[in-house]
Amino acid sequence: MNKKVLSTTIVLYTLAISCSAPVSPSNTQPGKVIGGGCDGCELMYINLPKQIVSVDTSAGWNSGGQPLKISGKVLKADGTTPAPGVIIYYWQTDKEGYYANRPYLNEKAKRHGYIRGWLKTAADGRYTLYTIRPAPYPDDSLPAHIHLSIKEPDLPNEYYTDEINFEDDPLLIPYFKRYPPENRGGSGVVQVSLQNSMQVAEHNIVLGLNIPGYPDK
Ligand SMILES: [Fe+2]
Repeated sequence: MNKKVLSTTIVLYTLAISCSAPVSPSNTQPGKVIGGGCDGCELMYINLPKQIVSVDTSAGWNSGGQPLKISGKVLKADGTTPAPGVIIYYWQTDKEGYYANRPYLNEKAKRHGYIRGWLKTAADGRYTLYTIRPAPYPDDSLPAHIHLSIKEPDLPNEYYTDEINFEDDPLLIPYFKRYPPENRGGSGVVQVSLQNSMQVAEHNIVLGLNIPGYPDK
């Protein structure tokens, strides 16, 4: 296999395995895994920092992409009480739509690319992420997205919420017509506005909302 073919194969393989699609029932323990499990959410524990704070600047920030600030609140299941101490793990494509790798990345975590990181909500439930606008996968109908996996301090396992999608993405409505969103944790669709040269969006998450097996239900 020549270098170009090998490179293309690696890219396609990475695209194929990087989404957090729900795992099949045979891979889960029904009733035991809150949220039903997902393929890749557990990678949040690889290189998990000991100190995680409520504001993070992603590794993609200086990569030349469109600067993007996403901030919001994580709320308890009642939809109003702020939830402090919740870890949000994010991973996303780069400005070309790839989960681009770097030599220093952990072998297992490579599938999430180098733009991955963690936030922990502050006492008021807030978090802020400075990153870049991800591009959709090349030659694909899937809208651009940022994956999120949530680990609450009092729950035994992590679960994924709806990915962050962008209202101005032309791929969004055609895709949602075919695959309506689950609204896990609430809608993941954000409206983007421009502050100077930075895109800014708000994204709140309601813990447990539309999460199967969530203990308060
Ligand atoms: Fe993805």
